Order: sequence, then C-alpha cells, then structure tokens
Amino acid sequence: MSNHTQPAASDAHRSVRPATRDMSAVLRLARAANARGAASLLACAACPPALADPASARFFAHLSRVTTTATASEARAAAKVAASRHQRAALHASADARDSASEHPPAPSPKNTKDSYMLFHPQYDMDAIADITPAHRPPRGLRDWVSFSAVQAARSGFDRITGYAPSKVLTREEWLTRFIFLETVAGVPGMVGAMLRHMVSLRTLKRDHGWIHTLLEEAENERMHLLTFMCLKQPGFGFRLAVLGAQGVFFNAFLAAYILTPRTCHRFVGYLEEEAVKTYTHALRDIGTGGSDASVWAETPAPTIAIQYWRLPPDATVRDVVTAVRADEASHSHVNHTLGSMAKDQENPFQTGHTTLPKNFVEPPEGFSPFHDPR
Ligand SMILES: [Fe+2]
Ligand SMILES: [Fe+2]
Repeated sequence: MSNHTQPAASDAHRSVRPATRDMSAVLRLARAANARGAASLLACAACPPALADPASARFFAHLSRVTTTATASEARAAAKVAASRHQRAALHASADARDSASEHPPAPSPKNTKDSYMLFHPQYDMDAIADITPAHRPPRGLRDWVSFSAVQAARSGFDRITGYAPSKVLTREEWLTRFIFLETVAGVPGMVGAMLRHMVSLRTLKRDHGWIHTLLEEAENERMHLLTFMCLKQPGFGFRLAVLGAQGVFFNAFLAAYILTPRTCHRFVGYLEEEAVKTYTHALRDIGTGGSDASVWAETPAPTIAIQYWRLPPDATVRDVVTAVRADEASHSHVNHTLGSMAKDQENPFQTGHTTLPKNFVEPPEGFSPFHDPR
C-alpha cells in the first residue's frame, strides 16, 4: 500500500526564490531608512510563512510594520519595489507553481533541500493513511525477545506511573502531556544511531552504506512531532525537569546499547514504534467518538508549523496532524524493524525520497531481503 505521494514542491519552491531577492532590495532600503526597521525586516525574512506566499496579507503586514519606522517616502519606495517585483515573479511563475505555492507551503523534498534546512519528509495522501492499524512483528529469536520484553516493561511501567490504560478515555490535556513527554524520548534513538555510524565511518575510513540520513530524518521527524504539540501546550517546570531526567538516562543507556548491539537497538525501536502507533490510534479514537474534550481537535485548525512540515491543506485540523504523526510512527517501525534485520554494512533500502509504506508495516519493503532476516 502506498501511503505517500511524491512531493511536487520543487516548482512551488522556485516561485519563492524571487521573493528572497525582493527581500534583499527592501532590506537595503529599510536599512538606509532605519536600523530598527532593518532588524524587523531581517526577522521577517526569516519567517517561512511570509516567504511562502509573498503576496499574502501576512507578508505585507510584516512589511508595513517595518515601514512604519522608516520615513514616509522611503517606506513607499520600499513597498513599491516589493510589490512590482512580486508581480513580476508571479507572472514568470507557471500556473502550476503558483497553485502549489498557495495550496501547499514549500517543505523539504529531495529536490529543494538546497534551499531548505529541513530534511526530507514525504507528503502524505491523507485518505491512504486514515486507516493505518496497529501491527505487530512476532519476536523471532533471543535478540527480538530481549527487545520486545524491554519495550513491554518500559511501556507498562510508564502506563502505571501515568495512570494510562488503552480502554481509558483521556482528556486533551492528558493527551498533550503524554505526546510531548514521549516525543522528547522518541527523538533520541535516530540521532544516537546516526552519530555513532558517522563516527564509525570517520575512524574506519569506510562508507556508511546510506543509513545516516535515514536516521537523521527520523530524529528530526520526532522533534517536529514535539514542536507541533508544543504549539498546543506549554509544559510547566516539573514536566521540564522530568524531561531532563528522562533524557539523561535514556540517551546514555541507548548510546551504550547501540555501541554494543545496534541491531538489538533497531529492533527495540521497531517495537517501541508499534506501541506509538497503538497510542496515536487510541488518541484518534478519543477525537472521533466525542467522549473526550479532545474531540474538538476534529475542528481545531492545525498549527502553522504542522501545515508547513507535512504540507497539509490550509484547512487541516489537529486530527489530520495526529493522523500524519501516526503514519510517521508506522514508518519508523517499518524502517527500524528492517534495519534490525540487516547486516551493518548492507545497503540501506530507504534512500532519500522513499515514499512507500506497506500495509503490514512491520515487515521489510517488498522485494528486499535483509541479511539477518530470521523467518
Ligand atoms: Fe513521534
Ligand atoms: Fe516514532
């Protein structure tokens, strides 16, 4: 089952480039007019939503804030330059590019990473990912049993401490607390794996076989989950302290484990992500049934950061975001179960731009045979 669609953001992204040049022209004028105005405009130029749609009211609102600090004639000149160049940029952009830019803000793709600091993330077909259901890979051998048991022990301990049960209906606040805490942990393994493989490659003077980027993409993806949910809730001091403690323990434990047995660690993450799919499915159930105040997320607009990252439609809701996050977790399970069966020098089948998630996501990609796949 293909749950992703290939991104078509390269044209959209090209349409943004003239805006960047316009910003330079405006910046020169504003800088001449007023240092404070220039500083504000620098902040504005760093704002992706403003650049994503240069003709938007938002862009000109930024611009007008800047120009109020300049003299009237300089402000008018700056606005005129920007308006005429935006007009020319729009005329030169193809109709498709303009449509893409307005419907889907540009986001990372294999084609536009030159102009973006974000790593690749595919654009989902929302209908295709709506029915992802939890899946389980039965343990095969000692390594799998160790990983699976560790995940089950961690999950049941955390559930007991937080009073969670799969049958329970959680409130919006409870869901956000759970999401935010778990995502601070989930972003650790990909970064540790990528860092260690990077170091191995450096000190052995050998290539990595393509794993590092996949692991970095996973780490960034988890951090984007965290940043998205942080738009909906700001945790307090005690929570932040708990995050600090959890990271101190988990990072060091995972680092030591990955040095000793990387395949067991990938299998561990594969099982951990199976649990994440279950949790987000439970959350979607609470949103859908109306028994929880989280049901308002079926109507609540998605945070801007999420619309940009997942290239969701402008009217996307928080429920759409949770649906996309669940698809990400299924992808992590798919990737890590596959890596957990591979030899460490086997070529990574998940190259940048890989966009297929099988229905049974706990199994390797169709046609790929991991070196250590015990069947
Ligand atoms: Fe996540
Ligand atoms: Fe994940």
